[in-house]
Amino acid sequence: MKLKKLCAFVLAGMMAVSLAACTDGNGPEPSKDAQSQTESSNAESGSQKTDAKGNKIGISMPTKSLERWNRDGSYLEKDFEKAGYNVALTYSDNKIDQQVKDIEGLIADKVDLLVVAAIDGESLAQVLSEAKNQNIPVIAYDRLIMNTDAISYYVSFDNYTVGKLQGEFVADKLGLANAGDKKFNVEFTGGDPADNNAKFFFNGAMDVIKPYIDKGTVVVPSGQTTFEQVGTAQWDTSKALSRFQNILGSYYSNGTRLDAAICSNDSTALGVTQAIQSDYAGNNEIIITGQDGDEANLANIIDGKQTMTVYKAVANEAVATLNLGEAILNGEKPDASLIEKSGWSFDCTYDTSSYNNGSAVIPSYLLVPVTVTKDNIQKELIDTGYYTMGSDGYPHPVQ
Ligand code: BGC
Repeated sequence: MKLKKLCAFVLAGMMAVSLAACTDGNGPEPSKDAQSQTESSNAESGSQKTDAKGNKIGISMPTKSLERWNRDGSYLEKDFEKAGYNVALTYSDNKIDQQVKDIEGLIADKVDLLVVAAIDGESLAQVLSEAKNQNIPVIAYDRLIMNTDAISYYVSFDNYTVGKLQGEFVADKLGLANAGDKKFNVEFTGGDPADNNAKFFFNGAMDVIKPYIDKGTVVVPSGQTTFEQVGTAQWDTSKALSRFQNILGSYYSNGTRLDAAICSNDSTALGVTQAIQSDYAGNNEIIITGQDGDEANLANIIDGKQTMTVYKAVANEAVATLNLGEAILNGEKPDASLIEKSGWSFDCTYDTSSYNNGSAVIPSYLLVPVTVTKDNIQKELIDTGYYTMGSDGYPHPVQ
C-alpha cells in the first residue's frame, strides 16, 4: 500500500520549516576528527525533558569522512535534543567492527531508541538482536539494515528515483529519445555494494538508459554495465578516481569521445571528475551526475565541471525520524497517518512494499529527491535556506 501526501503548504510555510530545521541550534558544529567517537549530551530544559520522559536516543552514523553524514548527525542530534531527549551520537569511521562496538555501547548505555545508518547492511543483525532482546526499537536511517527482525521502520529518500533522475537527466541532455543514428558513449560508476541503497540508485539510472543501450544509441566502451562491475567500495573518492583512470586509459586513450559519466553520488563523482581532468584526452563537455550536494561538488557544478547532483534534504529526513521516533516512544504504531499528523511541509510517501530486508517488508517513510543544476541551485538550495551563497561565489551548507 502506498499513500502519497502531496505538499499541502504554500512556499512560505515550507521555507519557514526548512529554515527552522536548518537554523535551530547555534551554528556549525565544531569539526571533529574522523575517528570513532561518542558524543553524549543532555538536554537542559526541564520542561522539554519531562515531555520526552528523560528518554535517551542512540544515533549511530557511519563516518565523518563522507560529507553528508556530518549533516545528518548534526540535524538528528539538534532535533532530538530540542524535543527534550538526551542524545548519544557515534561515528564509526566507516569500520564495520567499530559500528558493532558503538551500537553495543549504546545498548549498554540503555538508550530507549536506536537510529542507525549502517556501514554494511549485512553486518548488524547480531548486535541488533541484542537491541531487540532489550526491547529497544530500531529505525534504519537512510540505509536499510538487512536480515534482521529488529528493525521497526525505515526512513530514507526514494532511492530508486534518485537513480532515475540521474538517468533521465542524461537521456534528456543527450537527446537520446530523438538521437536517430547518433551514438553516445556513457560510463557508469556505482556505490558501495555493502550499502543496500547503492543497487537502487544503479537500477534507477540503468532502467532509463538500458533501452538506449539495447538500441545501440548508447554504447558503454568499457563494457562495464552490471552493478557488480561498477561498484565503488565505501563510496571512496580515490577508488572511483583510479577505476576511472583505468577506464580512460584502456578505452578512451585512442581519442574515443566520452559523452556522460553517470555517477551514483557526489563522492564518486568527485573522483571521476578528477580522473577526467587528469586523464581524458578530449575537450568536449562531459555530463557528470552526482547525489547529495556536497560542497566540493556544488563548487564543481558552479564551475561547469559537474553537471548535476540529486539533492536530498537531510534536514527533513531528520525531522521525519524525530516524529517517527517520538511516536514509537509514545507507544503508538505509526503508519501512513503519521505524515498527516506531523504536518510535514515536505512530500513523503509511506511505503509498505518496496523494502524487504530479507526478514520482512519494512514500513518505510520515503522523502522526495530533486535534481539540482547550476540553473536551480539558487531556488532549491539557497532560497530554501539549506545553503548560503558565500562571498567566494560557492554554496556552503547552513548548520
Ligand atoms: C546515501 C547517499 C550517500 C552515500 C555515501 C548512501 O547510503 O543514501 O546519500 O551519497 O550513502 O555516503
